[in-house]
Amino acid sequence: MKVDLRINGANRSADVEPRKTLLDVLRENFLLNGAHAGCEHGVCGACTVLVDGEPVRSCLMFAVQADGYEITTIEGQAPAPGELSVVQDAF
Ligand code: FES
Repeated sequence: MKVDLRINGANRSADVEPRKTLLDVLRENFLLNGAHAGCEHGVCGACTVLVDGEPVRSCLMFAVQADGYEITTIEGQAPAPGELSVVQDAF
């Protein structure tokens, strides 16, 4: 199935299997590896991204459910390429 997403301010599309999670598609299709697969049960939060500004555990959401939504990953938090966001800098 085709999914259209707006990821970190850019329009992106991908053909994905309906069983694929948003986490898998972000990492495998778009090479955004900031969100991680930790528990894959919705407990640890390592996969958290913002979906229309709300935090979502991307391991629990199918990519096809995110069709048409705005996704912000940790990569999208940086003010410019090569710079760190406040959160990243704090770590
Ligand atoms: S991987 Fe742990 S909550 Fe998603």
